[in-house]
Amino acid sequence: MTPAVSTVDEVRSAVAAARAAGKRVGLVPTMGALHAGHAELVRAAARAADYVVVSVFVNPTQFGPKEDFAKYPRTLDADRQLAADAGADLVFAPTPAEVYPDGFVTFVEVTQLDQVLCGPRRPGHFRGVATVVLKLFNMVQPDVAVFGAKDAQQSIIIRRMVRDLDVPVAVQVEPTIREADGLAMSSRNRYLSADERAVAPKIYEALRATQARAAGGEVDVSRLESSLHAALAAIPGARVDYANILDAENLTPVARLDRPALAAVAVFLGTTRLIDNVILG
Ligand code: PAJ
Repeated sequence: MTPAVSTVDEVRSAVAAARAAGKRVGLVPTMGALHAGHAELVRAAARAADYVVVSVFVNPTQFGPKEDFAKYPRTLDADRQLAADAGADLVFAPTPAEVYPDGFVTFVEVTQLDQVLCGPRRPGHFRGVATVVLKLFNMVQPDVAVFGAKDAQQSIIIRRMVRDLDVPVAVQVEPTIREADGLAMSSRNRYLSADERAVAPKIYEALRATQARAAGGEVDVSRLESSLHAALAAIPGARVDYANILDAENLTPVARLDRPALAAVAVFLGTTRLIDNVILG
């Protein structure tokens, strides 16, 4: 099992020792309930750095009042095992009081990029994400931090925050890891009933069909968006939260596929909200 620490002082001294030994430090921020997708990020961090810290913190400020903060799975022992197997050197699992001491009032907002896709559907979510990620960067002070393409908007927001605020960390984004049937791995997949799990791969199928249409020469984004939305809406028991195609770099609207675009979707299966995305072009 990877050793685990819970205070900023402890993680700082462990990282200081690694750095004194000439090691490059990598960070993989997570909320725990680790799966094979997280493991790939840890392996990528271990390739990019000599000393890898995995943070495990279910961040209260990124959950809305009606979201799953209380029931979010907490599996620290299993997480430490998975992290060790994937090549992590340390798990940093702070308490909420360590991250948000009494009197905490400072937040980071990445404007504009938080006004599309998940932003308006989860008010305050990206403010919570940007704030905790900047705090984790300041606590651990890694040379490189690794994120997953599954949360495409999150990765774009973090990259922009790092650029705008001159944060001295290299941000690396790794591809989405999927189950054999195409479903993007997620800590929330365990909430799905057997029926929901059976239809869940159709989300990625709809995205792949959109990719195929684009590859076949369709450049009209509104037509691609409508067929994507229709394919998702046809999934039994699904409610489409959004299905949008936006500029892949700055999340602005695109009318024609004349540059790389992000096709991003959020779909409710029952009460579980799943997100996924692919790049077009
Ligand atoms: P969490 O959902 O635990 O995800 C941690 C990291 O794993 C994120 O970078 C996410 O994009 C990546 N990830 C999740 N599923 C993946 C998959 N199937 N393939 C590849 N990467 C995957 O994202 C968060 O936590 C939080 O918002 C966090 C950044 C830790 C801030 O609290």
